Amino acid sequence: MAVTVIYTLSLILLSLHPSCSTFNSITQGSSLSVDDPKHVMLSPNGIFSAGFYAVGENAYSFAVWFSQPYTHNATVVWMANRDQPVNGKGSRLSLLHNGNLELNDADESHVWSTNTVSLSSSVQLLLNDTGNLILHETQDHGVVLWQSFDFPTDTLLPQQVFTRYAKLVSSRSDTNKSSGFYSLFFDNDNILRLLYDGPEVSGLYWPDPWLANWDAHRSGYNNSRVAVMDTLGNFSSSDDFTFLTSDYGNVLHRRLIIDHDGNIRVYSRRQGGDKWSITWQAKERPCSIHGICGPNSLCTYHRTYGLKCSCLPGYKMKSDGDWAYGCEPEFYDSCNKTESRFLFISNVELYGYDFRIMENYTLKQCQDLCLQLCNCMGIQYTYVFGPGTYTCYPKLQLQNAYRIPYFNADLYLKLPSNSSFAYEESKDEYNLACSRRKTQLKKAYDKSHGNSYVKFLFWFAGGVGGFETLCIFLVWFFLVRTKRRPYSGVDARVYNLAMTGFRKFSYSELKQATRGFSEEIGRGAGGVVYKGVLLDRRVAAVKRLEDANQGEEEFLAEVSSIGRLNHMNLIEMWGYCAEGKHRLLVYEYMEHGSLAENIKSNELDWAKRFDIALGTAKGLAYIHEECLEWILHCDVKPQNILLDSDYHPKVADFGLSKLRNRNDTKYSSFSRIRGTRGYMAPEWVFNLPITSKVDVYSYGIVVLEMISGKSATKDVDIDIETVDSGVEKQSLSLVMWLREKQKNNGGVWINEILDQSVEGGYEECKMEALARVALQCVEEEKDKRPTMSQVVEMLHKCSRENDNNPLIISQ
Ligand SMILES: *[C@@H]1O[C@H](CO)[C@@H](O)[C@H](O)[C@H]1NC(C)=O
Ligand SMILES: *[C@@H]1O[C@H](CO)[C@@H](O)[C@H](O)[C@H]1NC(C)=O
Ligand SMILES: *[C@@H]1O[C@H](CO)[C@@H](O)[C@H](O)[C@H]1NC(C)=O
Ligand SMILES: *[C@@H]1O[C@H](CO)[C@@H](O)[C@H](O)[C@H]1NC(C)=O
Ligand SMILES: *[C@@H]1O[C@H](CO)[C@@H](O)[C@H](O)[C@H]1NC(C)=O
Ligand SMILES: *[C@@H]1O[C@H](CO)[C@@H](O)[C@H](O)[C@H]1NC(C)=O
Ligand SMILES: *[C@@H]1O[C@H](CO)[C@@H](O)[C@H](O)[C@H]1NC(C)=O
Ligand SMILES: *[C@@H]1O[C@H](CO)[C@@H](O)[C@H](O)[C@H]1NC(C)=O
Repeated sequence: MAVTVIYTLSLILLSLHPSCSTFNSITQGSSLSVDDPKHVMLSPNGIFSAGFYAVGENAYSFAVWFSQPYTHNATVVWMANRDQPVNGKGSRLSLLHNGNLELNDADESHVWSTNTVSLSSSVQLLLNDTGNLILHETQDHGVVLWQSFDFPTDTLLPQQVFTRYAKLVSSRSDTNKSSGFYSLFFDNDNILRLLYDGPEVSGLYWPDPWLANWDAHRSGYNNSRVAVMDTLGNFSSSDDFTFLTSDYGNVLHRRLIIDHDGNIRVYSRRQGGDKWSITWQAKERPCSIHGICGPNSLCTYHRTYGLKCSCLPGYKMKSDGDWAYGCEPEFYDSCNKTESRFLFISNVELYGYDFRIMENYTLKQCQDLCLQLCNCMGIQYTYVFGPGTYTCYPKLQLQNAYRIPYFNADLYLKLPSNSSFAYEESKDEYNLACSRRKTQLKKAYDKSHGNSYVKFLFWFAGGVGGFETLCIFLVWFFLVRTKRRPYSGVDARVYNLAMTGFRKFSYSELKQATRGFSEEIGRGAGGVVYKGVLLDRRVAAVKRLEDANQGEEEFLAEVSSIGRLNHMNLIEMWGYCAEGKHRLLVYEYMEHGSLAENIKSNELDWAKRFDIALGTAKGLAYIHEECLEWILHCDVKPQNILLDSDYHPKVADFGLSKLRNRNDTKYSSFSRIRGTRGYMAPEWVFNLPITSKVDVYSYGIVVLEMISGKSATKDVDIDIETVDSGVEKQSLSLVMWLREKQKNNGGVWINEILDQSVEGGYEECKMEALARVALQCVEEEKDKRPTMSQVVEMLHKCSRENDNNPLIISQ
C-alpha cells in the first residue's frame, strides 16, 4: 500500500518536471533520437535516466545517469559509446525487429550495438530501478538478452555483480569521459587488482605490488571471481577483500567508481540533490598510484592542497596540461662519465625500473655504477634498518616518484655537470616542524589570516583521575590557503566532502543506546566511555567528551577527519553527536577491552602477543605516514591498545586533542606536554623536537612489557613535580635490564627475558625480532629509532621467512 502511494507520488512529482519523458521502456521498431530532449528513459522510481548525454561540443554518448540534480552536470553511471561519441543531430538508438539494439551516428554509420538476436516479437528495453538497462523478452519468463550491468563503464552500482568478464576503466579526466589509463579487474590469479596501463609503461598498483597475497589479506584460491556491493555499503569480493563504507547503513544513493586519478572510491548521498561524499577509497596515498604524474616527475601530497605534480629538475612538461605524459629531459646526456653529476633530493620513493638491487653499497659505489651505465638516470639510495647498511637502486627510468616525509630513501638524480639545474623545495610542500609553547598555538590558530601559510600544532595536557594518567595528544596539520589551483584531480575539496561520510547520531538515540549512560566501560583522555547498543544492533562504545564546547561545524570538521582514518588496526569511529552542549563520539566496541587488562592473562600466548605487536605497529605506521593528515598519537600505552574478539589489536584515542576545549585554562599551568609516565620518550624531558619517534619509543616500551612481563610503571613512586628530572627512571631501568641480558647471555638472551608465566611455545625468530626491534625503538637518540613502518617491515620479514618452516621452541 505504502509502496503504491510513494510510487504514485513519485510519478506525479516526475510528471511535473519539465524534462519529463513518457518513456519507461521502448519496444521493437522504435528508437530514441538525440534531437529530442524528451527522448529520455526514466526508471520507475525516477532515480535513473537513460538517453543521449552531451560529452563535448556536439558530441553525445548514450548513457545512464542519476536523474538528479537536473541543473548541474549529471552523474553518469554507464556509457555505451564513451570512446566514439555521436553527432548532436540525427543520431539515434534503435531497437530493431530482430532484437538488436543499435546506436547509429548522423551519417547512419554503426557505432555500437548489443549484438543480440531474438525471434520474439515482444522485445523491450527498460531501465530498472537499480540503474540497470535491460533488453529482454516480455513473454516466456522474460529472458534477458542483454543488460548494462554486465558491461560496466567505470561505475558499479549497488547489487551490480562485478565478474571476471567485466572491467572498470577510469575516464581520461574530469571532463573527458573517454577511456583512461586505470582499470579494475580480476586477475588470472583470482585477485581483484588495479592496473595502470599508460602511454609508455604499465603496472599493477593495488594491492601493493610488493605484498604477498596473504599479506594483503587476499586469497587466490576461490576462482568464482565475483564482487558486489550491497545497498547498505558492504562490499565483498571472492578473493576475501571486503569493506564497509564509513556510512554503512541505509543511504539513498551509492556508487563505486574508478576515478580518473586511478583510485577506487565509494560515493554516497542521502538526498537526490545532495553532494556526493566519499565514504571509502582504496588508496590513502594518492601519490602511490602509478603513473599519476607521468614519467620524470615528482608527486607530493598535501592535506589541504591536494596532490601536486612537478617535473624533476632538468625536465620539462611534455604535453601541456596533461600529466599523463609527464616530463622530458631538457638536457642532452653525453654518456661521458666525467660530464655527469648527481643532484640530491631527500625522502623520495621511486617504485620499479631498477637496473639491479645492490645491497650494502656505499654512495660512491652506487654513483659509480650509475655513471657506468649510459641509461642510468639516477639512483635511489635507501637506508636499511637492522643491518644498518644502504641499498642502491640504479634507475633506468624515473617513474612513480613521490616525496613523503620520513621516507628513508633519497634520490640522486643524474644530470650533466655543466648544467645548473637545482631542486627548490617549495616551502609549503611539507614542513613538519612543531612548536611546544601553548601561547604560540593560540596565535597560530587564527584561521582568518587566509593567505599566509599557517602551520599549527595542537596540544594539551589533561589529567583524568588525578595525575595518574596524564594524557596528551598532539596533532599537527597544515592549513595552506593559496590562490594557486592544485592538480585538477579529485582534490582536497572532494576529500573534505567525506566529512558528512559517517553518521550523525541524535543525543536521545545515544542516550537510549547506552540506557541512560549506565554502563561505564572506561575513562580516557577527555571523557568517560559507555557501552551501548545501536538501533541496528551493533554494539558500540560511546565516549562522552568533557569540556568540548566548540561550535558544531568545527567539531564536525575535526571529528570527520578522524572518522576518515580507516585501518584494520585503528579503532573505527562510526559517528558522532553534537547537540547543544553535548559532544559524543561513537566507536566500535572491543570485546576484550584493552591490552592493559589482558597483559597478564593466559589468553595471550606468544603468537597472539606477536600479532598484537605487529598490528599495533601497523596502526601507528598508518597514522604517522599513510593517512591523509600526519598525526602523532603521543600516548601509546597498553590502555590505548584495544583487543577485538579474536585479540586483534586496534589503536584507540588518537587525534582527539582537537576536540577538547582549547580555552580551558585548567591545564594551562603545564608548560610542557607529557605522555603517560613510563612511556614517554626522553625528548619530552629534554625539550628536544617532538617527532613521530616519540610514539616509536612508547611503542617499544609497550612491547618490552608485553614480552618480559615486567611493568614500566609499576612500583615506581615519582612525584609529578620531579618528573622533569627523573621521569624515565622506571622505563629506563626496564630497558637497561634488557640490554644487560642481551649483552651477557649471547645467543640465548631471548629465553632469559621472556615472561616465564606465558604458556605455550614460540618461534624463536619472531621473539628475537620483536625484542631487537623493541630495543631499537627505545634508543635514547631519536634518530637511532626506526620509523613505525620500518618496525612493521622488520617484524614481517621474520614471519615471512619462517612461515614455511617455523622453528617452534617449547618452554
Ligand atoms: C559541468 O561541466 C562543465 C564541463 O564539462 C564545466 O565547465 C561546468 O563547470 C560543470 N558544471 C557544474 C555545475 O559542475
Ligand atoms: C528490476 O529490479 C528489481 C529490483 O529492484 C528486480 O526485482 C527485478 O527483477 C528487475 N527486473 C528485471 C526485468 O530484471
Ligand atoms: C578525450 O581523450 C581522448 C583520448 O586521449 C582524446 O582522443 C579526445 O580528443 C579527448 N576529448 C576531448 C573532448 O578532449
Ligand atoms: C558483508 O557481506 C559479506 C558477504 O555477503 C558477509 O559475509 C558479511 O557478514 C557482511 N558484513 C556485514 C557487516 O553485514
Ligand atoms: C567463493 O566466493 C563466492 C563469492 O564470494 C562464495 O559464494 C563461495 O562460497 C566461495 N567459495 C569457496 C569455496 O569459498
Ligand atoms: C669525456 O669528457 C672529457 C671532458 O669533457 C673529455 O676530455 C673526454 O675526452 C671525454 N671522453 C669521451 C669518451 O668522449
Ligand atoms: C658491508 O660491506 C662492508 C665492506 O664491504 C663489510 O665490512 C660489512 O660487513 C658489510 N655489512 C653487511 C651487513 O653485510
Ligand atoms: C654542456 O655540455 C654539452 C656537451 O658536452 C653541450 O652540448 C652543452 O651545450 C653544454 N651545456 C652548457 C649549458 O654549457
